[in-house]
Amino acid sequence: MDRIAIIGGARLEGEIPISGAKNSAIKLMAASLLTDEPLRLTNMPRLADTRFLGKLLQRLGTEVSESEGADGPETLLQTREIISTIAPYDLVRQMRASFNVLGPLLARTGQAKVSLPGGCTIGARPVDLHLQALEALGARIDLHEGYVYAQAPRGLRGGRIDFPINSVGATEHAMLAAVLAEGDSEITNAAREPEMVDLAECLNKMGAKVSGAGTSTIQIQGVSRLSGATHAVMPDRIETGTYAVAAAMAGGEVRLTRTRSDFIETLLDKMGEAGVEVTLHNDGLTVKRNGARLRAVEIDTAPYPGFATDLQAQFMALMTLAEGESVIRETIFENRFMHAPELSRLGADITVSGGEARVRGVESLEGAQVMATDLRASVSLVIAGLAGRGETMVNRVYHLDRGFERLEEKLSACGAQIRRIKGGDDEE
Ligand code: UD1
Repeated sequence: MDRIAIIGGARLEGEIPISGAKNSAIKLMAASLLTDEPLRLTNMPRLADTRFLGKLLQRLGTEVSESEGADGPETLLQTREIISTIAPYDLVRQMRASFNVLGPLLARTGQAKVSLPGGCTIGARPVDLHLQALEALGARIDLHEGYVYAQAPRGLRGGRIDFPINSVGATEHAMLAAVLAEGDSEITNAAREPEMVDLAECLNKMGAKVSGAGTSTIQIQGVSRLSGATHAVMPDRIETGTYAVAAAMAGGEVRLTRTRSDFIETLLDKMGEAGVEVTLHNDGLTVKRNGARLRAVEIDTAPYPGFATDLQAQFMALMTLAEGESVIRETIFENRFMHAPELSRLGADITVSGGEARVRGVESLEGAQVMATDLRASVSLVIAGLAGRGETMVNRVYHLDRGFERLEEKLSACGAQIRRIKGGDDEE
């Protein structure tokens, strides 16, 4: 299994182009199940997760082809016919978001059998809200032996979906199903993440009638069929925030391009409070830090536009070297502090109690062997390694490959001393 070795201490200077958003791309790919015409997605990230979903879609009948377009990587998806309505355990288990094929399969064919995603390292992560949404659209749902059997023999019909809590995946799932339902639907207490807007825009290009995405109420007028479309995947706001934090951690000056700073406003406010200089541009932002020690700040993760849970681990890495004590509260997922003990191996001083971590800034970190435990946790270890003295070796980097495109290449282009060691032993 690959490992990543980092020799800390190098300042970062240069430019990092941001890729298309993983979390958006995988839902947009699922939308291709809704039409027999081609869906062309541009600005596609090339990641383990998108490749993986491509494989699942092929099993269901989608032709998937990748190419290099004028504006970067593209994926063409066409599902002339659904050849299977079953998403088996071995595939859904590996990537939770593959559960989102359930709604489109049901909307297009009236039936689907999709494995429950099963446990996940960052907490229980149930799918009850996804199922509640499909039931509100008239689906009959039965659970047997770890599978969801969903049926709507006469098609889905419009309905009211009132979510008790914000869920990104369930809101997207509801949209993906309701666009082909007969009649009108309304989603209240919808997630407001920018990915909702991206999905709605793509669906509307395909002929759907979705309004209100990005607010807490989404209206959908069902249509009887959707057509093909071309859509550019939005920039990855988590990748943007991750490199912004990396630049602040290592020091130097890095320009992040092909992205949008407004997607990470809350992070940038907190970085400003901590003493990082940020300049905004039309196509992104520049992050600068020269020598001075950062100040500790408090954060609480929250649904968008609050502080993204997917940036919590990275921000914790940054706070390990700040002056004073930072309090970090995780309110979205239980058990999402697995990076804390690994950061402590590098010399960080962190105490975790329930959903709260207290990080007392230290003068310096020291390289060590650490283990990546989940996607965002692993990148926080890379960030810490950039500022540590000596060598940090991050084991189990397959987590990183799920969500960060060409990470070593992007960081080393700015002067980081980072390299991948292929197939080395890890500590499993
Ligand atoms: C998505 C993102 C993930 C991000 C998260 C929160 C993708 C592929 N993943 O995950 O990177 O960290 O949003 O911003 O887009 N919940 C339920 N029942 C459900 C669904 C969710 O109780 O049926 C709970 C979850 O356990 C969690 C909370 O709702 O506590 C929010 O989860 P949700 O927004 O659904 O996250 P995901 O869509 O899984």
